[in-house]
Amino acid sequence: MKDTRTNMNDVSKLHLQFKKDFSNSSSLSDLEGLQLKYLGRKGLINDLVQSIPNIRSEKKKAYGKKVNDLKTLIKHLIEVNSQELLKDEKSSSFVDVTLPGKQYAKGSLHLVSYAIEEISRIFEKIGFVRMSYPEVEWEHYAFESLNMPKRHPARDDFETFFIDVPKQPKYGQMILSPHTSSGQVREMMRVGKPPIRMINIAKCYRPNWDTTHTPMFHQFEGLCVDERINITHLKGSINYFAKEFFGEDREIRLRPAHFQFTEPSFEPDITCGVCLGKGEINEKKCRVCKSGWLELAGAGMVHPNVLRAGGIDPEKYTGWAFGFGIERVTMMKEGIKLDDIRILYDGDIRFLQQF
Ligand code: FA5
Repeated sequence: MKDTRTNMNDVSKLHLQFKKDFSNSSSLSDLEGLQLKYLGRKGLINDLVQSIPNIRSEKKKAYGKKVNDLKTLIKHLIEVNSQELLKDEKSSSFVDVTLPGKQYAKGSLHLVSYAIEEISRIFEKIGFVRMSYPEVEWEHYAFESLNMPKRHPARDDFETFFIDVPKQPKYGQMILSPHTSSGQVREMMRVGKPPIRMINIAKCYRPNWDTTHTPMFHQFEGLCVDERINITHLKGSINYFAKEFFGEDREIRLRPAHFQFTEPSFEPDITCGVCLGKGEINEKKCRVCKSGWLELAGAGMVHPNVLRAGGIDPEKYTGWAFGFGIERVTMMKEGIKLDDIRILYDGDIRFLQQF
């Protein structure tokens, strides 16, 4: 057990030390320093408090009171003096209006937001209506109405986030929409009678995280339904988009593919912007595309079952649809090497401020 007198002396010594420090303090920052030195979590008062368990029990109370009184005094003196100094500072502050203003860093939109604005404008110019359908969706709109019944293996391609709420007999489980195609039947129901020209831009979610996939990403979905719509309209519309967005010198082609909700289905490719579709530069294979072409999206003629699900007569009307990944087209356009899409969402200001 430590001698109580020694401890009492410690308190007195600290009091004297504070008096000295306090009389040497003349600014707010000096007082802030004192606050930290004496009252901070690792401050000198706390050191004294820590020694209380070493005091003989009959002296503990008196010692504790002494420490506490000193703490209250220090707090009071720092507070009162700070207020006085603040008052002085306010009354004597002089604003030199001739000085140049502070330069604040200018913010800007995210790369993907710029792309969304541009894509909307491109399609609005040819009479498409911009829509955003729910991100929190029913299985019915994301799968069943798109000709992908329960347990259909194609549903595995859209690994899905399920939401823990009771299932609906007609609409199934609640999910995070894995693609903007969920808006197709919703749009058919909204418009009722064709013509339909929709551009649906929304966030999509799939449980993926690798160099070409993020769990949240954006798609834009084109949907056109009317009498006598055919594949040439689909190709013409994608071609129009490619030239507006990437540049006049780009061409597209449709490569056969499979989607459950379109028949026939395609994967549109675009000529590579580096080798301009030649597949080689100086007799060496182009390192970006290797073949002259880059994969762009999914597309096709709307399946009759989907038209039916949207209340549209497939004997009378036909339609096309496509779905592009916005992150993908943005990186292709900006010439960002497609070696890691996640860079878009790392929040690294040094990368983002370049655009
Ligand atoms: C679809 O999502 C279809 N709904 C597209 C479609 C629409 C086909 C209309 C026919 C008619 P896919 O799963 O291939 O298809 O996705 C389309 C694009 O979305 C891909 O090319 C890719 O660019 C982007 N994408 C898909 N998953 C991710 C992800 N996890 N992260 C980033 N981009 C993604």
